[in-house]
Amino acid sequence: MRIDKLLAHSGLGTRKEVKKLLKTSIVEINGETVKDPKTQVNPDVDEVLIAGESLDYQEYVYFILNKPAGVISATEDDMHETVLDLLQPSDIVQEPHPVGRLDIDTEGLLLLTNDGALTHRLLSPKHHVDKKYFAEIKGIVTEKDITKFKEGVELDDEYLTMPAELTIIDIDTEEEISKIEIVIQEGKFHQVKRMFHAVDKEVLYLKRLSMGSLSLDPLLELGAYRECTKEEVQRLKA
Ligand code: URA
Repeated sequence: MRIDKLLAHSGLGTRKEVKKLLKTSIVEINGETVKDPKTQVNPDVDEVLIAGESLDYQEYVYFILNKPAGVISATEDDMHETVLDLLQPSDIVQEPHPVGRLDIDTEGLLLLTNDGALTHRLLSPKHHVDKKYFAEIKGIVTEKDITKFKEGVELDDEYLTMPAELTIIDIDTEEEISKIEIVIQEGKFHQVKRMFHAVDKEVLYLKRLSMGSLSLDPLLELGAYRECTKEEVQRLKA
């Protein structure tokens, strides 16, 4: 790739800014000073130094975000704040995208990455990646619902869902509110909400707890994010 692109993607500024940086003769590739922004460089092979310091370039970035309600899982939108608006400008230069969608009112775990192969793997229904949610439901969730979800429920468009594992956490019989956890392997539009609708109940609150091996970090406040650890990335790819 071009050196100006590499420097910009490493968070050293915009393409225009890194061009100015190159002019100051502080960039070296394999011991040679480089000033031409078009110079080709291979970050896997070539040694790039900035003012004598080695450049730490990562082709792929992986962030774990605790998505708040009110923000949409898209890269751009005319009306609403997007999950990318929650990232620092230096973290969006490599163009991460959300892996799958959470509804605007859903909270919780969202992975953002520019690794297309991993995104495909995590979203492809044939890979059966577990997605676990916590939900508050209007109505009393019963053993019958657990059995129905295990067998698959028919959604409003007649689609029969794959087996889902429903666990009752708490039932408030007076208020008629149930707290549950559900594990699904699909990601149909509004899937959890539509599954409860199919058993005449309503999702009041929904939060994703995990996706495959990646779990929501309890230290992340709503709206906060961090880079995934090497171990988290390795486990997701395994
Ligand atoms: N199911 C839903 O209904 N909404 C989400 O955001 C995720 C799963």
